[in-house]
Amino acid sequence: MISFLHSSAVNGINAYLIDVEADISSGLPVFSIVGLPDTAVKESRDRVVSAIKNSGFDFPAKKITVNLAPADIKKEGGLFDLSIALGILVSSGYIEKKSVQKICAIGELSLDGKLRPVKGLLPIVLSLKKFGIKKVIIPEGNKNEASVANDIEIYPFANLTETVKFLKNEIKVFPFTGSCESDENQNTAPTVDFADIKGQFLAKRAAEVASAGGHNMIMIGPPGSGKTMIAKRIPTILPPMSFEESVETTKIWSVSGLIQAGESLVKQRPFRSPHHTTSSIALIGGGSYPKPGEVSLAHNGVLFLDELTEFRRDVLEVLRQPLEDKIVTVSRAKNTLSFPASFMLIASMNPCQCGHYGDVNKECTCNQYQITKYRSKISGPLMDRIDIQIEVPALKIDEITTDKQPVSETSHEIKQRVIKARNIQYERFKNTKIYCNAQMGPKEIKKYCILDDKAKELLKNAIEKLGFSARAYDRILKVARTIADLADSPDILPVHIAEAVKYRSLDK
Ligand SMILES: Nc1ncnc2c1ncn2[C@@H]1O[C@H](COP(=O)(O)OP(=O)(O)O)[C@@H](O)[C@H]1O
Ligand SMILES: [Mg+2]
Ligand SMILES: [Zn+2]
Repeated sequence: MISFLHSSAVNGINAYLIDVEADISSGLPVFSIVGLPDTAVKESRDRVVSAIKNSGFDFPAKKITVNLAPADIKKEGGLFDLSIALGILVSSGYIEKKSVQKICAIGELSLDGKLRPVKGLLPIVLSLKKFGIKKVIIPEGNKNEASVANDIEIYPFANLTETVKFLKNEIKVFPFTGSCESDENQNTAPTVDFADIKGQFLAKRAAEVASAGGHNMIMIGPPGSGKTMIAKRIPTILPPMSFEESVETTKIWSVSGLIQAGESLVKQRPFRSPHHTTSSIALIGGGSYPKPGEVSLAHNGVLFLDELTEFRRDVLEVLRQPLEDKIVTVSRAKNTLSFPASFMLIASMNPCQCGHYGDVNKECTCNQYQITKYRSKISGPLMDRIDIQIEVPALKIDEITTDKQPVSETSHEIKQRVIKARNIQYERFKNTKIYCNAQMGPKEIKKYCILDDKAKELLKNAIEKLGFSARAYDRILKVARTIADLADSPDILPVHIAEAVKYRSLDK
């Protein structure tokens, strides 16, 4: 007898419906699976046989063929174990055919029949309705993640035995309706705060402006000046993610296996800080089963590249495309996949090889040639995509030791201003694909960054006097727009231009 069931696979972050056909016929007892790559077949076959036996069912001593179609969709992992096991139990007459109609079954089996959580469940459950599926059976550990989809009935189970009892109507189970809103484990208060940082008012303000407008930022300064400290506190002042942003980010985390059992949505903006030894594939994504890279895991959040000059140059160069397009495209033999990658780049670097160029506390031992060579590690086109470029000088010894610091603002206070400025931008770019000032193109800059004569004059003078490159012009306008938004000013005033000019300290 032959049975039909549904399962699903993910390629990139897109889900596909997979038809699982299981045929049992008389003949020598062989169990073969077609439509899966070789190694995956063997492993899945072993797990399914053991799980069926150890759950107390007979494993038919007949010729069993399971086909996973379409064959040309690349399939990976244990996602299909449950549908294969159920298919065999239907074909052997243990479960009625009609009880698996319009059901999608997903889950990896352990040898004793337990259902293990799988990667990539969120993109799957969000797509099932459009495939005409009404019910989905999933591992218990995936239930909170799955509950984000509210247009489908979700049935989580701990093991194969329970699943079979449910399909045979031996137990009554109601669809899971847990709310993904009440996820308490993520609401832990951050342990770091901008109030921890002494001095560095320019850098702290620059971090506020960057967060308000979604601008990329690089900090240059000697070791120990607080660059890493500042970067790590940026998530504490970013505006909260919208539900849509949360779902986008969670899909990427889900296919990467970063959603822990019991978790649902990623609600905090991601903060990714890959080490400088990272490969370009780890950073950008790819591989034979294409996986999202750090730039995509940072989607809607921060990508922090500490000690930027330590990264390999070719690794840094691959950043240019996602910085420009906000998406990563991975080409495969048969198809092209894309992963969203809209992130705020925060970078830090030393001013020179020895680290002390411009340091008041220690002398720099580099010559001009070494300094130029060191700076040229970061290419012009990459630097060009960073709106805010500031120096973070070393604190003077007495600034560090004194207790009489001017009061530092808390992250909470700064965040309130950031949120207000972002709301102005959401309103400004309503019904467009732009979310914040940093994403403005030439057209939007022309429309929203209008300067009066005084401001124009000031900017012209600054460009002439400080020798800014032509490309700095648009960057200053965008940053000035954000500074004006922080001040709740519809117009960009000279004072806003003056502040924006300060954030181009390297671009001279
Ligand atoms: N502005 C500052 N306020 C308070 N502590 C600081 C400051 N700058 C540096 N520190 C101290 O020095 C340490 C090193 O700072 P870090 O942020 O790692 O510097 P950098 O990344 O610039 O090399 C911090 O862990 C902190 O203890
Ligand atoms: Mg550091
Ligand atoms: Zn030096």
